[in-house]
Amino acid sequence: MKPVAVQVPGGGMRIAIGGKTLFRWNWKRNVLAAVMPPPFGARHVEYSVIASTDDAAQASGRLLDIALRAIQQARGLSLPELERRIPAHDLHQLLHWPGGHYQLLAALAAAANAKRIVEVGTAEGYSALALKQGAGPDGRVTTFDLVGWRDFPVSCLEEADFADGRLVQHTDNLADPAAMRKHEAVLRDADLIFFDAAKDGVTEPKLLENLRRVPFARPPVLVLDDIRVWNMLKTWREIRDPKLDLTSFGHWTGTGLVDWGAAPV
Ligand SMILES: C[S@@+](CC[C@H](N)C(=O)[O-])C[C@H]1O[C@@H](n2cnc3c(N)ncnc32)[C@H](O)[C@@H]1O
Repeated sequence: MKPVAVQVPGGGMRIAIGGKTLFRWNWKRNVLAAVMPPPFGARHVEYSVIASTDDAAQASGRLLDIALRAIQQARGLSLPELERRIPAHDLHQLLHWPGGHYQLLAALAAAANAKRIVEVGTAEGYSALALKQGAGPDGRVTTFDLVGWRDFPVSCLEEADFADGRLVQHTDNLADPAAMRKHEAVLRDADLIFFDAAKDGVTEPKLLENLRRVPFARPPVLVLDDIRVWNMLKTWREIRDPKLDLTSFGHWTGTGLVDWGAAPV
């Protein structure tokens, strides 16, 4: 008889036989939708929370300066490599700005004069290419994923992207302290770090915990994706370093900037 698995993680139930899903029920989402239906319809709706900011970490002058320059630069910025590689039916969704974040990512790299960039979460490779553009000809992006880009089913990356060494990928899990130590030399030299990983409520807190132990050469700017998505709310709220929610000029799911390791304002 094939093994039967019944899993009831955080907000859902899944019944599987031999790895094949027979039944899936996201009870939390269904109950929420019944009790508190979204007041409008949209292509994609997520539940979130708004909270006071006077009792949370404030933005530093450095973050405000970088953000203002980045917003100015993102306005009207074109991303030719992304325009060429993103499938036509996804172009508007991914490259509208603000709302999509790729223009802001490129602009943030330029505005922060980031020459050494670390990304966690390569996936399709869109953000890696945006960051590479923003870093300029003397910049370098080191991107991490659990899956190598050649094995990622819908990667937009090409061999040529890696040819000059300005884009490097490692398939290590930086949520593991040993992997963070292994890549410490790259991390400690980073000017900008972008986390766009699992958003499962576990991975990002571990990434932040491990990052705390890196002896940075210069204080990096940390960019977090999806900070308004439920699983990321606590992680974002609990960051005590100077921070700035830049969602209105970045990703509609939430874009957060952190002046990593800087003194509270
Ligand atoms: C939302 S996608 C990233 C999208 C990408 N940044 C882009 O905009 O083109 C998330 C990726 O994070 C990867 N991931 C999840 N946990 C990870 C971890 N601990 N370390 C590295 N990558 C991880 C997943 O494999 C997935 O490819």
